[in-house]
Amino acid sequence: MEVLRVVGGSPLRGEVRLTGAKNSVLKLMAATLLAPGTSTITNVPDILDVEIMAELLRRLGCEVGHDVPSSSLVITVPERPDHRADYDLVRRMRASVCVLGPLVTRLGAADVALPGGDNIGSRGLDMHIDGLRRMGAQVTSEHGYLLAQSEGRLTGASVWLDFPSVGATETLVMAAVLADGETVIDNAAREPEIIDICTMLQQMGAAIDGVGTSTLTVVGVDALNPVQHETVPDRIVAGTWAAAAVMTRGDVTVRNAHAEHLSIALEKLATCGADIDVLPDGFRVSMDRRPQSVDIVTLPYPGFPTDLQPQFIALNAIADGAALVTENLFEARFRFVQELARLGADVRTDGHHALVRGRSCLSAAPVEATDIRAGAGLVLAGLVAEGETTVYGVGHIDRGYAGFVPSLEALGADVRRDVVSDR
Ligand code: EPU
Repeated sequence: MEVLRVVGGSPLRGEVRLTGAKNSVLKLMAATLLAPGTSTITNVPDILDVEIMAELLRRLGCEVGHDVPSSSLVITVPERPDHRADYDLVRRMRASVCVLGPLVTRLGAADVALPGGDNIGSRGLDMHIDGLRRMGAQVTSEHGYLLAQSEGRLTGASVWLDFPSVGATETLVMAAVLADGETVIDNAAREPEIIDICTMLQQMGAAIDGVGTSTLTVVGVDALNPVQHETVPDRIVAGTWAAAAVMTRGDVTVRNAHAEHLSIALEKLATCGADIDVLPDGFRVSMDRRPQSVDIVTLPYPGFPTDLQPQFIALNAIADGAALVTENLFEARFRFVQELARLGADVRTDGHHALVRGRSCLSAAPVEATDIRAGAGLVLAGLVAEGETTVYGVGHIDRGYAGFVPSLEALGADVRRDVVSDR
């Protein structure tokens, strides 16, 4: 079993270059299913989840070539892909569910294993299902699979989402682009990753209005074309580096980033006392003293991202003062604070609030990452803890952070991968 050994105490200094967002590229890959032929996606992160999605597309009959040095994926989609996403892949990556919309709209059938909940929450699919039903699909669940079917094309419909769900917005936009007539999705998500997929779909020939707003209007077309598209940079990885720079009292320049996708997080870091310079191709974050604690409330974009909540709890754990962190998206995302407590953090949770009282230092211990962002938060805490922290569950971090350890080393961190026998 692999672990990360992190020795605290070195400030991070230097430059990192982002690749594309995990939470965009997986959906872009699924969207290629909408057009037969060869599509190319660039700025692709070299992460485990991309490999899992590539495997899923291959099982659906696509050819997928991943050229890691050039960060590109070449996907050739057949005239008639298969329509079944098996449990063995969906259980490894719940984002596999994003093939549901493209398959049902293009083939009139999709059998997708139900992903179930995970370590951050229950993660329902009701809004995906309700929306597809409004568009005329019959959706049932049997033997652990969602079965979506439609006789002929889906039909455009008005859909009002109870919550601006990223996944439901993506499923419904992908379904609507080939449906018959107009679909209006109200209370749609507005994340940069939603803009990215809508832009790619437009390049493929889709008619989508209101991109970047909470009302998306889609007029279905008969067919779409393959495309070449560059993935939007990963704002969560960017925010992770920014928090790490502040925690370690370092100076990190993040290149190929869109600072405007991270406005609230960077403002929060400025409140902590950091210097933030926005650059034409990214930003620079530097810090020369112990950060001040800062309150956080997670909300759909443009609010503070839930995917940076664990990293900012880690930051608050060593900050001067107390902070109230409110998690509004995933009810179980605070589970990781039990691991952070092993490093000496003082965090008390009550429902969806966490009170973090900053300590002047943390002390190294073995800890277990339970999801991607919890893993990132624990590594950040390890970077400032006294002694050597061993982070288990590295596979979670590999799912979302491309070249994390080499980048940390290049910035001056004392960190390495190690193999230990199973506990
Ligand atoms: N929800 C429902 N019913 C639905 C859909 C969502 O109840 O039909 C609930 C969820 O349970 C959750 C909330 O709505 O409580 C928000 O879920 P959303 O659909 O917006 O999230 P997602 O699409 O499942 C994506 C990212 C997450 C990120 C969230 C929020 C991917 C693959 N995942 O999830 O990323 O936290 O949006 O921004 O895009 C991560 O990268 O670590 C991660 C968890």
